[in-house]
Amino acid sequence: MVKVLIPREWDAGETRVASSPEVVKRLAGRQVQCCVERGAGRQAGFSDEDYAAAGADLVNPGDRATWSQSDIVLSVGPLGDNTAALKPGAVVIGQLAPHNNNALLDQLEKGQLSAISLELLPRISRAQAMDVLSSQANIAGYKAVLLAAADLDRFMPMLMTAAGTVQPAKVVVIGAGVAGLQAVATARRLGAVVSVSDVRAAAQEQVESLGARFIPPPEQGVPGESGGYAKQATMSFLDAQRAGLSEHLNQADVVICTAQVPGRPAPMLITSAMVSAMRPGAVIVDLAVIQGGNCELSQAGQTVEHHGVKVIGADRLPGSVAHHASSLYARNLMSLLEALIDQEGVLKLDSEDELLAPSLISLDGNLRRTDLVPERATSSEMTP
Ligand code: NAI
Repeated sequence: MVKVLIPREWDAGETRVASSPEVVKRLAGRQVQCCVERGAGRQAGFSDEDYAAAGADLVNPGDRATWSQSDIVLSVGPLGDNTAALKPGAVVIGQLAPHNNNALLDQLEKGQLSAISLELLPRISRAQAMDVLSSQANIAGYKAVLLAAADLDRFMPMLMTAAGTVQPAKVVVIGAGVAGLQAVATARRLGAVVSVSDVRAAAQEQVESLGARFIPPPEQGVPGESGGYAKQATMSFLDAQRAGLSEHLNQADVVICTAQVPGRPAPMLITSAMVSAMRPGAVIVDLAVIQGGNCELSQAGQTVEHHGVKVIGADRLPGSVAHHASSLYARNLMSLLEALIDQEGVLKLDSEDELLAPSLISLDGNLRRTDLVPERATSSEMTP
């Protein structure tokens, strides 16, 4: 029987939990025994009693005996010091933020741990049900529009009242990935007029099917794509893109920033001079803030006001809808565990499997993705 531990998240500001009572119950049907640290689901609306009723064993946070006997640890965010208590060969699964994360790789190597970094699962049909990036980005896109609407000094929809007609808000969405498309859909539902910028040609049709207008990228030097993701743009392309965006931003009431390039700093598309030229009262919500932001003024977790424009550095939006974010995350992990644990309850990590080839960053402490940390990739190339 596989033993799975669902700990309290290490990051005190994290409200989500990696598994739900529903999934604990489903796992029990597959010969998986779940231990849940007391209080792990409290902020997501799951009580200890809910987990116990679903068949979980409740344990005290950080209980060494439980950590040392666990085969798998599920987490939402990065791992804490308790991983030092894990036995060699234990598997950690979560959004491990592996890019440039030397400390994580050291931790895995030293503890002889295996690790699956969910950000690195391939975007293939088989992995759709496991795609935590999508389930969480979807929530972020939705909540970003609600945040902006709550802070805006105007209505979102067009209104015809006895006191006259109110024009609909103008929303610009930058980046038409999962979060961006959900932001478009949410803003449209609220009645706004929406324009969208992206550099991938495929985005145009998706944007237009949601009733928004596509802002085409500059013609020269479009960055291209790899595996559905945009590549990093050159400085001259970004200069041209900023110039093209300026006229849209000058008219905008709300800007939702979601443009990202995996493993790279987010493209900086709104300078402080561009913010100064926007109308006072406008709101920018920057979801890319953890990767440096699409707006030069964005600060993670803070709202900055500049020339009357509010710039919200929205770094924790999925956690602000903790119950559904956790429920969806837990189902994503259930789908992954179903692929890894057979009907007899035996865990198999096949590094050749197309799911694991990119996402299994360590197997029993043997690091498989040193390319994620450039200094490490270089030193491993130098090793004879
Ligand atoms: P992301 O979060 O990495 O980036 C968000 C968006 O920013 C992307 O659409 C990207 O093209 C855009 N972007 C990058 N640089 C930009 C720039 N300079 N200006 C404007 N926009 C810029 O993307 P996300 O949401 O993870 O989606 C990436 C791709 O994966 C998309 O093609 C999406 O359709 C695809 N996808 C596939 C899935 C599957 O097949 N299972 C599931 C989810 C997404």
